[in-house]
Formats: sequence, C-alpha cells, structure tokens
Amino acid sequence: MLIVLSLGGSILAKNLDPNRFLKYADVLRELSKKHTLLVVAGGGEAARNYIDTARAVGADEVTCDYIGIEITRLNARLLAAALGPDACPGIPTNYLEAAKAMRPGKVVVMGGVIPGQTTDAVAAILAEFLRADLLAIATSIDGVYSADPNCDPSAVKYDKISPEKLINIVMAIEMKAGSKSPVDPVAAKIIERCKLDALVMDARDPAVLGEVLNGEAAKKSPISCGTWITTKI
Ligand code: UTP
Repeated sequence: MLIVLSLGGSILAKNLDPNRFLKYADVLRELSKKHTLLVVAGGGEAARNYIDTARAVGADEVTCDYIGIEITRLNARLLAAALGPDACPGIPTNYLEAAKAMRPGKVVVMGGVIPGQTTDAVAAILAEFLRADLLAIATSIDGVYSADPNCDPSAVKYDKISPEKLINIVMAIEMKAGSKSPVDPVAAKIIERCKLDALVMDARDPAVLGEVLNGEAAKKSPISCGTWITTKI
C-alpha cells in the first residue's frame, strides 16, 4: 500500500523526548519494509507556544502560520534524523518535491507547506496527488466524535463517518493558527473530493500505530482507537 501519514506533533514531539522520535522511527522503518510511506510531521506544543507568543507581539495569522510551518519542519528534521539512512534525503517543502524525493524502501518526511491549513491538509493533498491507498491521521484522540467530548458528555464516537458529515463537524470549530480540531477542514474537503479512505486514530503509543497500519488498516475494518472516514458506510 502507499500510505501517507500525518503524524501529530503533540504525539511525536511530546516534551521533545528523543526516545519518542526513535520509537516512531522504528515503527516507520518496519512499515516501510512492506509499504511505501510518506510522513508529514506536525508542530505540537512547540508550534502552539511559538504561535501564542507571535500573537502576543501582534503578529497576523499568516505570520503565525509561517511560524507554525517552521516548527513542523524542525520536527520533520528530527524524525528524519532518527530514521537515519532510512529517510529520504532532505525535507520537501512542497508536494512535487515530496514526489521527487521518493526512493524505494525509504521514508519521505516533511512538514507544513503554506499558511491557512495544518499538516493534516498537507497529508491529505499529498495522498490525493500520489493516489495513496490510505491517509492515516495519527493524533492524541481516539477518533471523531459528534461533539467535543471534553465539553459535551453526550458526544458519541464514530467507527465510520462519511466525509460530508465530517465536514459539518469540523466546520463548527474555530479556524485559527494552532487551533484544535480532529481533522483540519481543508483536509476534510480534500478527503471528500478525492473519495480517499482515511483513518483518524489515537497513536500516542507508537507500537499501536505500527499494529494498526500493518494489520487492521490493510483490511480497513473498524478499530477501537480510531474512526474511518469513508464513503462506504
Ligand atoms: P500542525 O499541523 O502541527 O497543527 O501545524 P495542529 O493541528 O496543532 O497539530 P498537532 O498538534 O501537531 O497534532 C501547526 C501550525 O502550523 C501552521 C498552522 O498555524 C498550524 O496550526 N501550518 C502548518 C500552516 O499554516 N500550514 C501548513 O501547511 C502546516
């Protein structure tokens, strides 16, 4: 399978712990033996901290986005360093560069691309561009809920959701640099237009990410730690 993985900065770069980078790198290295893999690293807490400070000094939202992009690229560089020779050389800064960077058995790692979106959108557009078999969004939440489960105790988790329904849910969430949504609205629209099968999953444990992408994701069956976004409901 050709898999594009959006690897959330909040799980990859938590406390900038080198062991987390190394553990994710081990999982990705194993996956790349069976699958063609491209990874888009997120910014996580560091991006949010930088963006908060930028806003506090009066930066506009586009400048905040550019700052966020820089942090995602730093996390991508750290992950590529952890992968060592198993990463393709360089950090692509756009989709064409990512396509050109692909090498058999090696993992392409990149970060953000342009303001106005998050790395989920980068991964979705890259998946559409490369006609990927799967877009995996690895994050710290166990799927898509009908409402924010932290605020609404009646929120229910979906095993499967259509792209149209996902768009309705995410459009209700504020879109600002650094904002939190299960899937970025741009990514949701891309998933809808290219009818791509996508999985949003809790991948705080790198081992779970490996198990799911090697096992259940290949079968595209429901999983307890995630939600499938699919037209086949
Ligand atoms: P992330 O993709 O990390 O956002 O990009 P996130 O939703 O906070 O994800 P986690 O926490 O890593 O899981 C961080 C910020 O970088 C900017 C946006 O401001 C985003 O909120 N960004 C990123 C862009 O403007 N364009 C991009 O292509 C990527």
